[in-house]
Amino acid sequence: MKEDNVRGEDFQESTKYIRGKPLPGRMIQSGEPDAFKIYKSCIGVIKLPEPDREGGNSLRSVLNRRRTRRKFSSMPLTLPELSNLLWCHQGLNLNRVGIPLRTAPSAGALFPTETYIIVNNVEGLQRGLYHYLVREHSLEFLKEENLAEEAAGVAADQKFVRNAAVLFVFTSVITRCSRKYLDRAYRFIYLDAGHIGENLHLAATDMNLGACPIAAFYDEEIDKLIGVDGKEETAIYMYAVGNLQGTPFLKL
Ligand SMILES: Cc1cc2nc3c(=O)[nH]c(=O)nc-3n(C[C@H](O)[C@H](O)[C@H](O)COP(=O)(O)O)c2cc1C
Repeated sequence: MKEDNVRGEDFQESTKYIRGKPLPGRMIQSGEPDAFKIYKSCIGVIKLPEPDREGGNSLRSVLNRRRTRRKFSSMPLTLPELSNLLWCHQGLNLNRVGIPLRTAPSAGALFPTETYIIVNNVEGLQRGLYHYLVREHSLEFLKEENLAEEAAGVAADQKFVRNAAVLFVFTSVITRCSRKYLDRAYRFIYLDAGHIGENLHLAATDMNLGACPIAAFYDEEIDKLIGVDGKEETAIYMYAVGNLQGTPFLKL
């Protein structure tokens, strides 16, 4: 049993910051920020409606209601709802020249996380795979196909995933972070994705939508499905979102 854990323990040990030793993040400059992936070609670019940046319920009431929900109805998501989810999860909220900042924090403002969505049931959007352009608040349409069944398969055969209106897939472009933080970047990419996931979860809760975080997936299969190489860029987290089947509020 001990041996199974050795690599995890080694990683934790070898990436510790220790007083008196130089910190990698301070030694190496991050260079030009390159936090926005754009595809050279795609089926088309869809400009999303303006998100509602000020509305919604109080943060505390949303926190009080947040729950993982896995039962989705067949009611489609609207485009404004999808737009809000995308902006809330890691949209730009300060367009500072040089480093535009987002609703989610990121170690060293390097923003290694890319968002893909597998659309299954959204009004006005064809089913298929899309990539979120953070700067333009737009979607690049990458693949037109009904991927719901395949998505549930790659999510370790979790059947409820096929009923999600949208499956969010977060990848990390690891070198964006590791060129500055070396191996400690492997801590940060997951922390970054966790912030983004919670933003998404709270935004969905605020809009009475259901959301389920998913970390049980077959890595190679999801990377292949969304078309990333699994090395330079790899899927690290997913989220199923949809309208709720049943009561929106679960009380204690
Ligand atoms: C990192 C992470 C991975 C998770 N992966 C899955 C998953 O693959 N499938 C699933 O059904 N739930 C998954 N969950 C949801 C947890 O089961 C859920 O958060 C937990 O039971 C607590 O319930 P609550 O979110 O309603 O408080 C995951 C949660 C986290 C934070």
